[in-house]
Amino acid sequence: MTTSIRPLIAGNWKMNGTSASVPELVAIGKAFTHGFDVQVDALICPPATLVARAHDVLSSTPVRVGGQDCAITQSGAHTGDISAEMLKDAGAGFVIVGHSERRTDHGETNEIVQKKALAAWRAGLTAIICIGETQSQREKSLTLDVLTAQIEGSVPQGATASNTVIAYEPVWAIGTGLTPTLPDVAAAHAHIRSELSRHLGEGFETIRILYGGSVKPSNAQELLSVQNVNGALVGGASLKASDFVGIAEACRPA
Ligand code: 13P
Repeated sequence: MTTSIRPLIAGNWKMNGTSASVPELVAIGKAFTHGFDVQVDALICPPATLVARAHDVLSSTPVRVGGQDCAITQSGAHTGDISAEMLKDAGAGFVIVGHSERRTDHGETNEIVQKKALAAWRAGLTAIICIGETQSQREKSLTLDVLTAQIEGSVPQGATASNTVIAYEPVWAIGTGLTPTLPDVAAAHAHIRSELSRHLGEGFETIRILYGGSVKPSNAQELLSVQNVNGALVGGASLKASDFVGIAEACRPA
């Protein structure tokens, strides 16, 4: 973790959560409000159906709320889609774009992801742009090339620390319990930092680069101590308040 950048611990609830999950949101909000002394930003991205509820429950706490995807356009005849402006209106401050599950399940290309990031900015949201290699790309030693292409294709010019977060999520590590070795995490994050510099020219130095993929309380400390790891994007372990808070506590300086 680069000490000058305040870490962000973000929870991606994916397609999980109903009104029965509201008490979990309340518990997360409470944990970060009372006696939580770790210098960290916290964010929960529930399904779109819960964004407004999450905002109601969390707006009096330090925990922010985000969406998991947004449409490219602001409004119109796009049945089932939700715009960045709608997420903002419901209380979101962030939106994840280009998650590998969107890239795979919905055929989202780098070009689409870049347009979604621009849509997020248009609405005043911070875009969390996800990148990461698949297992077969990794086996062919293509990881760094894939990251370069995804940064060039998905990250719009004008990205800064206030409008953009990058999430490095190796696809093979998502939901599998597998994680890259710490040197591999360090190499990927260093590469992302230097590619952001090449791609953006300026503004890249303080952009947060999160690691995502099977982060849990028991491995968070070692992953978050890697240089250029500025937080985590957490799937499964973010559904339980105690696990999510346990991951955030791993950001406590040793
Ligand atoms: P898991 O933490 O469940 O592996 O999911 C990671 C992820 O995809 C977060 O966006």
